[in-house]
Amino acid sequence: MFFERPEGGESSILVHIDLDSEREQEDPVEFEELVRSSGAEPVAFIKGSRKSPDARLFVGTGKLAEIADAVREHEAQLVLFNHSLSPSQERNLEKELKCRVLDRTGLILDIFAQRARTYEGKLQVELAMLQHTATRLKRGWTHLDRQKGGVNLRGAGETQLEMDQRMIRQRIKNINKSLAKVRAQREQGRRSRKRAETPVISLVGYTNAGKSSVFNTLTSAGIYAADQLFATLDATLRRIQLPSFGEAVLVDTVGFISHLPHKLVQAFRATLEETVQANLLLHVVDVANEAHDYYIEQVNEVLTEIGADDIPCLQVLNKIDLAQGFQPRVDRGEDGMPTRVWVSARTGAGMDLLLAAISEMLGEDVVQQALTIGPDEGRLRARLYARGAVATESTDENGRLVLQIKLPRLDFERLLQEERLP
Ligand code: GTP
Repeated sequence: MFFERPEGGESSILVHIDLDSEREQEDPVEFEELVRSSGAEPVAFIKGSRKSPDARLFVGTGKLAEIADAVREHEAQLVLFNHSLSPSQERNLEKELKCRVLDRTGLILDIFAQRARTYEGKLQVELAMLQHTATRLKRGWTHLDRQKGGVNLRGAGETQLEMDQRMIRQRIKNINKSLAKVRAQREQGRRSRKRAETPVISLVGYTNAGKSSVFNTLTSAGIYAADQLFATLDATLRRIQLPSFGEAVLVDTVGFISHLPHKLVQAFRATLEETVQANLLLHVVDVANEAHDYYIEQVNEVLTEIGADDIPCLQVLNKIDLAQGFQPRVDRGEDGMPTRVWVSARTGAGMDLLLAAISEMLGEDVVQQALTIGPDEGRLRARLYARGAVATESTDENGRLVLQIKLPRLDFERLLQEERLP
């Protein structure tokens, strides 16, 4: 069972209120972009300011009248708030406005629902939606009884009403079971990649920064790139060949967004797990977007939240073809390692620099040397072979075995510790 969505854009009234009490303001420009991405059609944008939200209706009565007028005037089907609404606020607003009301989390979920492509992605979205609606259902939807269809996110009001709590609980249980199965399979895939010591590179970045485009250019594969937010929801994996390094796995992940509601971060943990387990992060930035510095911070915040902030990271400053006076180049830190690469995924400019920088960063972590094996170290030798870490084997003048090896430093250190310590 999946939520039905109406075809085409629903005319929507957007509401954004500047709140004194809100530590971090939501961005009205991003909000409009989100709404367009969801497929809804904004017909009016009502803004205002308040000290703090009204407990019952979020807005004051004056603002409510303004919204109600706009709903009538434009015959709007949906009112979207750029804020989190409590279930009762949402319900009270729907009663007053006689029209469907959706908050920011609901809107993001709606976009996620449209974008999920894999089985796992769909399960994750459905689970997040059920959890989001469960609290709202608990208190009753009776005021929507006579309102039929044409309503975003939760499909026709009817469908919602038909689902009683027991069914929802059962469905959540089933989804969790299926998710556990899918995750176990993914974990297995990840382990076998680890065994093969194939480094994993994960693309992260603000939504619409160009991750899928960079992914495509690097892998020359045709995955979906669209000028929409969250075009990529499910992690996509592909093998790439790096110059003077060898094989790596490249992962394209869900786009980040400022103030991604915490429970959504939880819901998409599985997708983000690919990121947490990566050997290298490519943080893709849209340099043509004026707010890109702010977006970099937002992405870094999410990375900290999911525990990926200590993974080596290379910034990929993308879309230089759109900004004046930028040439492909590599910036380096004090230690001489690459920190940023300026590229255009569209024209391909700088992609060679990017590939070289990736190899360099991954190479930092690789041991490439000759190793002399003692007569009692057959097990160490076998373990090195099992990892595919031995390039050549020869015998020195004393008749001892010399292996030319290449493997990740961490792995090498672990092996030596296990095999060479008394
Ligand atoms: P999400 O999946 O939403 O997180 O987006 P994304 O970061 O994967 O972005 P995507 O690759 O879908 O690109 C977003 C838009 O930017 C698309 O319209 C791309 O064609 C465009 N784009 C990406 N890279 C470049 C570039 O180097 N130059 C220009 N001009 N446009 C680009």
